Amino acid sequence: MKITAFVGSARKAHSFGAAEEFLKYINDREKIDYEILNLNDYNLKICRGCKLCTDKGEELCPLKDDRDILINKMRESDGVIFISPNYTFQVSGMMKVFLDRLAFICHRPEFFGKAFTSIVPQGIFGGGKIVKYLDFIGSPMGFNVVRGSCITTLEPMTDKGKARNSRVLTRHASRFYKRLKQNSLKTPNLFELAMFRLSRTKIKTMQDETFGDYRYYRAKGWFDSPFYYPVKLGPVKILTGKLVDSLSRG
Ligand SMILES: Cc1cc2nc3c(=O)[nH]c(=O)nc-3n(C[C@H](O)[C@H](O)[C@H](O)COP(=O)(O)O)c2cc1C
Repeated sequence: MKITAFVGSARKAHSFGAAEEFLKYINDREKIDYEILNLNDYNLKICRGCKLCTDKGEELCPLKDDRDILINKMRESDGVIFISPNYTFQVSGMMKVFLDRLAFICHRPEFFGKAFTSIVPQGIFGGGKIVKYLDFIGSPMGFNVVRGSCITTLEPMTDKGKARNSRVLTRHASRFYKRLKQNSLKTPNLFELAMFRLSRTKIKTMQDETFGDYRYYRAKGWFDSPFYYPVKLGPVKILTGKLVDSLSRG
């Protein structure tokens, strides 16, 4: 089992430490293959907004850098963790640059069956919303999202503060480990199902072979499948799916 943590802080401090503690907990339960990657060690350029990746295909991105090295690390992993400090009530700029470069995967999800979670270290306030933001991004990329956590790392840290963070990270790592062991393709909720049917019907009716999303969805058979992957849907979801297909065609 392989887990990769992507850390969006330029210094090896609380974000890196949280990754180590989280992964050590899991490794103590079961020997795993894990890696902590500092985004700072990679050449990642800022998105220029040309939209070639989302519209036509990610291979056309004019930026030549380490994007694909990092994406391949995710492809090779069973579990992925995004760790970003709270910078001015948002993820760090470095993490945001990384997320923007992954935008095309939100159009063409691929990480089904892989577990995903997030950790946000912060000084004082605002990290809860950042955790929600990072967790929200996991879904459209196809990940099986495990609720993330926020830890408070205001310096100088007290023993009590360190112990509190350890408890948070331990509980979080335990949740993540359980999901990893399930290793399952989760049943979509109504929202996820509706989003799939809306996207695929819009792509089918509004695009053609010149669009990256169209080619991807066609190749995957998603224009005709009930969901991204084989899944058992109850009568309410079957009906909702048909309704959304029909409304999206209009
Ligand atoms: C530019 C900058 C902005 C920050 N903004 C916030 C903030 O809005 N809220 C907060 O609680 N902490 C804030 N912090 C504190 C960091 O989140 C905190 O120090 C965190 O531990 C940094 O992660 P690191 O130790 O991995 O570098 C900020 C720190 C920096 C450097």
